[in-house]
Amino acid sequence: MMFEPKRPQKELKYEELRIYTDEELKNFTEEELKEFKIKHEIPALEELEKGPWPSFVADAKQEALRRRKLADDRIMIDRYVVEDLLGQLELSFKDGETHWKHGGIVGVFGYGGGVIGRYSDLPEKFPGIAHFHTIRVNQPASKFYKTDFLRSLCDLWEYRGSGLVNMHGSTGDIILLGTTTEQLEPIFYDMTHELDQDLGGSGSNLRTPSCCIGKARCEWACYDTQEMCYEMTMHYQDELHRPAFPYKFKFKFDGCPNCCVASIARADIAFIGTWRDDIRIDQEAVKGYIAGDIVPRGGANKGRDWGKFDIQKEVIDLCPSQCMWMEDGKLMIDNKECVRCMHCINVMPQALRPGQDTGVSILVGAKAPILEGAQISQVIVPFMKAEPPYDNIKEVIERIWDYWMEEGKNRERVGELIQRVGLPKFLEAIGLPPAPQMIKAPRANPYIFWKEEDVPGGFTRDIKDYRARHKR
Ligand code: HEM
Ligand code: HEM
Ligand code: SF4
Ligand code: SF4
Repeated sequence: MMFEPKRPQKELKYEELRIYTDEELKNFTEEELKEFKIKHEIPALEELEKGPWPSFVADAKQEALRRRKLADDRIMIDRYVVEDLLGQLELSFKDGETHWKHGGIVGVFGYGGGVIGRYSDLPEKFPGIAHFHTIRVNQPASKFYKTDFLRSLCDLWEYRGSGLVNMHGSTGDIILLGTTTEQLEPIFYDMTHELDQDLGGSGSNLRTPSCCIGKARCEWACYDTQEMCYEMTMHYQDELHRPAFPYKFKFKFDGCPNCCVASIARADIAFIGTWRDDIRIDQEAVKGYIAGDIVPRGGANKGRDWGKFDIQKEVIDLCPSQCMWMEDGKLMIDNKECVRCMHCINVMPQALRPGQDTGVSILVGAKAPILEGAQISQVIVPFMKAEPPYDNIKEVIERIWDYWMEEGKNRERVGELIQRVGLPKFLEAIGLPPAPQMIKAPRANPYIFWKEEDVPGGFTRDIKDYRARHKR
């Protein structure tokens, strides 16, 4: 099915939206940049202009110089915002500690999140960053852009913000880095009215979902990650913009078990593409790999001489379930033993492909260490079809939310809730049957809870009956 936006989307034309002229955007020369000294001494940071990697210090200096030369009425926040940021950062390098005040609660009307407020703890020394709020902007699925959109957003941000960004935040958002409280509503107005663009999430809510590149550019995608990411983002806008949860909650969508957005580690629910029929084998291409006509791993290991490709050593012997073998020059796979680890497909992409009966595995509970220790998500649905409008998947999500929103303690991630009540109780609450695929091994301790109705005679006993048979 072709991707369809939920409603007609505005075709942005930078020429109609631009704020700055070409001259304003290229208002300094290489010579001027070389001579340029920012208003603070930053010797430690300047060390970071050396070396081959793109230097954030050098980039920030360019932005500082451009802002020096823009007219007063062409920038809405402090001209020296970038220079003061570098100044404070230099001080933090020296002191070995941060100079941002604790917390900060700012935002836009109608929403309970999306902006991370921040204030310098040295506002007299660095007035340009007395306010330095971050705006999270919901990125398009897989981060495909047209320059018209990016240039329009850049002009807006140059005008009303610091001109500094993070492309992208770890959750996925476009991060607009540094503006004042007064500018938040105007930025939000311009983004929604001119750029057809909403904020991302922050706080105890659904955060901005993100996905791997999926069917757009990858032969292994077992479902349309972008479509599903977009659909879920639109469907749960309310949960994203207005915090209603015990704590934060993240969705991530990976097209296959290679997990290119690391959904299994960084989302409360991970949707990981998989298949349940057979791996498709092109035996001619297998011969091509064996003969050395096709480079293994798409050439990923070409930087070093690893010798001639050896299918036995590099594929068959490395299959974790040992379910592959060669027979009469043909590669055979016992698919019922295959755990869909992707290894053989990754090594021989031209010969092997995922099956065609595809869907997702749903895994729940990943989180960082605080409070009860880091968790990787665990399987709660081994396989489910993933096709628009995804009603089956929405039902799983909503059952989890219903339970967690009632039972979750304040600031308890869903992974910690499962730890606290136990997987059996969690599964029962969300109405899913337990399955062997959900565990790596059965429990080793004998501390097993039984339900009263499952025990003959129940739990109410009379000690006198017992004493009649057993003397004290
Ligand atoms: C043949 C001797 C014993 C057997 C077979 C035995 C068995 C067990 C079992 C199966 C449990 C787990 C109960 C549950 O899951 O709730 C347990 C817990 C326990 N046992 Fe024993 N036990 C024995 C002797 C003892 C003795 C001699 C003591 C103390 C002096 C003791 C103290 C405890 C304690 C404190 C617990 C923990 C209860 C809890 O975690 O709530 N046990 N025992
Ligand atoms: C000052 C003395 C003691 C303190 C402070 C203490 C404390 C604790 C604590 C906090 C737990 C819970 C651990 C958990 O949740 O994982 C525990 C469990 C237990 N304690 Fe003690 N304990 C003491 C003395 C004893 C003695 C003398 C015995 C046996 C003779 C004993 C037997 C046990 C048993 C069997 C368990 C259960 C372990 C389990 O459930 O896996 N304790 N104790
Ligand atoms: S997770 Fe799988 S489908 Fe998605 S981009 Fe990576 S390899 Fe391709
Ligand atoms: S996908 Fe993994 S488990 Fe399955 S046959 Fe290939 S290497 Fe073996």
